[in-house]
Amino acid sequence: MEIKSIELVQFRNYEHVEIPFHQGINILVGPNGQGKTNLLEAIALLNGKGSHRDAKDGDMLGWQKDYYRIKAQGLSSQHPFQIDYLYSNEKRKKVQLNGRTLRRAYELSEAVNTVVFSPEDLALVKGSPEQRRRFVDREIGQTSPAYSDALQRYQKVITQRNALLRRLRQQEASITELELWDDQVAPLAVEVLKRRLDGIAKIAPYARQIYQALSEGKEELELTYRSSFPLHHDRSRWQNDYKKALEERRREEINRQITLTGPHRDDLQLYLNQREAKVYASQGQQRSIALSLKLAEIAFIYHFRREYPIVLLDDVMSELDPNRREQLLQYLHRRQIQVFITTTHLRAFSKERIKEMALFRVQEGRLWPTTE
Ligand SMILES: Nc1ncnc2c1ncn2[C@@H]1O[C@H](COP(=O)(O)OP(=O)(O)OP(=O)(O)O)[C@@H](O)[C@H]1O
Ligand SMILES: [Mg+2]
Repeated sequence: MEIKSIELVQFRNYEHVEIPFHQGINILVGPNGQGKTNLLEAIALLNGKGSHRDAKDGDMLGWQKDYYRIKAQGLSSQHPFQIDYLYSNEKRKKVQLNGRTLRRAYELSEAVNTVVFSPEDLALVKGSPEQRRRFVDREIGQTSPAYSDALQRYQKVITQRNALLRRLRQQEASITELELWDDQVAPLAVEVLKRRLDGIAKIAPYARQIYQALSEGKEELELTYRSSFPLHHDRSRWQNDYKKALEERRREEINRQITLTGPHRDDLQLYLNQREAKVYASQGQQRSIALSLKLAEIAFIYHFRREYPIVLLDDVMSELDPNRREQLLQYLHRRQIQVFITTTHLRAFSKERIKEMALFRVQEGRLWPTTE
């Protein structure tokens, strides 16, 4: 998978740029605040899953502009593709793939998968359960639009259920209403759970293998899922068990006006040699785990598509020690993955490596190829 060229119009601080890319490693170099991450964000949007930094569509409008457009051409499964991604204040979003208007932007992931790696990901192990959930959701969602769909529907119902909890607290609604909602939530929650667990079961062996290779050690990485209610080995019981769990915490939920049980409260737990990594692993080990999880995401996508995603490394080079940096670059280079790396300085790269890469200078929303 590869992006051959991109054109940005009124996207963030880019008034207009059009530029061809290298099929291997592309380095975007420039001082702070010039548009490096903005460019990565535009590339990341091409998988149709929204901004990797969770910006809203409208946030990416160039200041005082009323539309932006991202056009890209590339190759996916050896077929050329064209994407036209248009957002305007008036018509919201219009996304076309090969001239066909998509009903949902995430259908773009049929053509393009992107994996973003940022310093925040390096903190995945120490971070909040929400961060780890988001990681899992992105990971599974890329290969399964059905998962993204179920998750969206689930989240919507949870939001509505929370609104109802607020009304119950003010005695403006009845328990019967809540029970009706619970009947709606349960099948969605279980669908999300099943798909998540199946996804994690597929990712885990890759993560384990990659961690072993990275650490050249005897340490064993394990991923386990912590559900907010007990999961019986018989999956057909989950819906009822979930409803029971909701019922048990009903009073507390009404008091706090939020739904306290369900996949939106779960966590991915990481263990190194059977000890929880969050608590016991060293900084370096935690970074290696995070790196392994990201590389597992790449391997997981390959497993589905027989093709590697486009990899975007935002500011991570300076966060990695030279040894891990080299391991990462080698991993990507050997597999001929198209990579975009942002950096403020080229000193993170050896002369040998730089020869194999394409360099671009980024300054004040402009972008041009360079050689030094
Ligand atoms: N919607 C927008 N319209 C116009 N400019 C924007 C918009 N959003 C952000 N910017 C500008 O884009 C610049 C930041 O770009 P970006 O985040 O890509 O920086 P960067 O090159 O990655 O810097 P760093 O090295 O600090 O990460 C800032 O100057 C910011 O003011
Ligand atoms: Mg940046």
